Amino acid sequence: MKETLLFLHGFPLNHTMWRYQLDALAKDFHCLAPDLRGFGANKPLPEDAPLSMDDFADDAAALLAQHNVTQATVCGLSMGGYIAFALWRKYPQLVKRLVLCHTKASADTAEARANRERQAGRVRTEGTHVLADEMLPRLLAPNNLLRLEAEVRTMIASNASSTIIAALRALANRRDMRDQLHNIQVPTLVIAGDADTIAPLADAHVMAEGIPNAKLVVIASAAHLSPLEQPEQFNAALQKFLSDG
Ligand code: MLT
Repeated sequence: MKETLLFLHGFPLNHTMWRYQLDALAKDFHCLAPDLRGFGANKPLPEDAPLSMDDFADDAAALLAQHNVTQATVCGLSMGGYIAFALWRKYPQLVKRLVLCHTKASADTAEARANRERQAGRVRTEGTHVLADEMLPRLLAPNNLLRLEAEVRTMIASNASSTIIAALRALANRRDMRDQLHNIQVPTLVIAGDADTIAPLADAHVMAEGIPNAKLVVIASAAHLSPLEQPEQFNAALQKFLSDG
């Protein structure tokens, strides 16, 4: 049986953000790239749904069980990285390797939490497009905006406002994982973008230096979505990591 790669998408996107990786890797690997609970093609969540990174991790564990997979390489971007941490914490036996892309180990600051509250208010009254307007200049580097803006807007629009509001609260309440990093024994690849201001390079260094068996790759000319922005560089880094064992 082929080795399983589990891809966990970022906020407020859906599984199609991994399309270049699925194209390149599906031949050699068993790839699972779900839409997360409430996102994409899934039934929207009510905005007051109880939701946490652990709930998404439970869903990921259930998906692996449904496919009879006992261990996977877990590749998460940003919110998907927070979920990968939660999966490792709750179900360490399921995680063969970690790929932590454009993410951070720290929890939200008080300022970040207040900003999410503000964003939830705007999404509730104006719709998801306000989040697209606000986030796009930080999701994509200027040189990638023209090629990818419409596609990323479509991804954001695939999600209901109510799911986005519930997820903003879950993001704001996520755990700080910094004091756990030294316990992560699985091979780990940390991927960062040289122009990412959402999960800046300094956060990637915290993870790469805190996790004993981690490597850091910095993708050039990428903001927050290097799997889409620079698929060749991203896939080369991922493939090298997978072939290193
Ligand atoms: C993401 O890309 O998943 C989000 O930017 C995560 C966050 O806002 O912390």
